[in-house]
Formats: sequence, C-alpha cells, structure tokens
Amino acid sequence: MRKFVIGGNWKMQIVKVDEAVSVAKEIATALEEIDMNGVDVFVAPSYHALFAVGQAIKGTKLKLAGQNMYFRDQGAFTGEISADSLLDCGCEYVLLGHSERRRIFGEDNAYINQKVKKALEKGLKPVLCIGETAKEKADGQTEAVNQKQLEESLADVSPEQMKNIVIAYEPVWAINNKFLNPDTEIKTATPDEADSIHKFIRKWLIDTFGNEIGNTIPIQYGGSMKDSNCEGLLSINDIDGGLIGGASLSAAKFKPIIEAATKLYQ
Ligand code: PGA
Repeated sequence: MRKFVIGGNWKMQIVKVDEAVSVAKEIATALEEIDMNGVDVFVAPSYHALFAVGQAIKGTKLKLAGQNMYFRDQGAFTGEISADSLLDCGCEYVLLGHSERRRIFGEDNAYINQKVKKALEKGLKPVLCIGETAKEKADGQTEAVNQKQLEESLADVSPEQMKNIVIAYEPVWAINNKFLNPDTEIKTATPDEADSIHKFIRKWLIDTFGNEIGNTIPIQYGGSMKDSNCEGLLSINDIDGGLIGGASLSAAKFKPIIEAATKLYQ
C-alpha cells in the first residue's frame, strides 16, 4: 500500500520563531489524538525557525521539512542552506521545485534535479513539486508541462532512489498566491481534473520506474486544499496526500485535513 503524506508548507507566512514553535506544538498535540495509520505529516517552517521547531516536536508524530536547499555541501554560497543543515535541524523531508521557487526565483528543472540528487544522497526525502500555469492549462499543455518537469527534475534518479521521493502535483492556478496568479481567479482543481492528471503522473512513474516502484510513490495534490474540499480530493485513488499552504497555518485548520487523510487511508 502507498504511503499518504500530508505536508504543511508555511512559506514565509510565520515570521517569528515563537509563533512557529507554538503552531507546531499545537499540531503535534492534535496528532496525539489521531491514529496516524501510516500517514506521515510534516510542517515546513522558514529556515530561521527550523531548529527551534525541530526541538519542540522531537519525539512527537509531527515531522519536519525544509522549504528548499542548495545542491552543494558547504561553502561560500550566501543565502543558501545545505542538506546537512536541514538534517541537523531534524528535517526528514525537503520541498524542491515549488512553483514559487520556479516562477518567482527562476529555478529550472536542471537546477532542481541537482538538488533532488543531493537530497537523496544525504538521506533527505525530496517532495518534488510540479504543476502547470493557468496559461499552459488553457493552451492544452498540462500533460506536456508536467511530463517535462518530471523527466528533467528526476533525470538520473534510480528506481531504488524513487522509494524515498514524494511527488506534489500543484497546479499553479490553484495555489493561493496573488504573485503567481495576479490576473486569474484562484480555483482548486475539481476532483475530476485532479483525477485525470494524477492518473497521467502515475502512468509516467510506472512507465519510467517500473510497476512496483511506480505504484508506491506518493503523489500529493496541492493548491487551496482545505477542510471543505479535502475529502473529495483525498478519496481519489492516485491522490496520496496533500501539500497545504494556507490551511496548515493553524492546528484548527490543519487537523481536519489530517483526520480526513487518516480516515480515508484505513
Ligand atoms: P495553498 O498553497 O494551499 O495556500 O494554495 C499550497 C502550496 O503552495 O504548497
């Protein structure tokens, strides 16, 4: 059976260490009451809060993720963070290639591929984010864009290494981000839209890495997932969790999504 992974991507939303620690503790406390049943839950705070949050959630069911990392081990790389630093803070996962990194900070597939390979080498689990823009969708390019991102971001990754990867399909037009979507209304993918592209991604994974491995790689959906729409999305066969921005910023909003995931996974 495939693992379910629910991730909270805090982006640059929680800017104080104390606040990040307190939200993380609330989420960890909420998880105590839930039978996790094979569902992994992580939060990805800003770098400055990673160590404190890592300490605060040690020994709980809540896991920690970095929001990004650089592909070199150490050195004169101003403003970057290494895999070893993320591991030192207690991270198990790292988000790579999020559409905000791709679209606002200019990261391309080849660059993301170097990070994916470094994360795997270091024992961090990459959450590789892919997804098309509103324009690409309107131009009928959804499958082509996602396939290219998969092919190039996962170049030279072996089937064995894929056991430690999570794919996050996040249509850019569904991400609650006015910088990415200045002129379009932000919509969540309908279960039918999500079903179709998740099936496409699953097929690509199976064709590329073989039936056994391709079927065990979790594919998260991301983009305005919340309490009110998570059940419809999470009950789709090829959706194995969610990457959640806005609705992960408090235990009150995040807990119902985690509960829905653990219930549906049983
Ligand atoms: P959102 O963000 O849930 O706020 O739309 C999702 C993401 O960007 O990972």
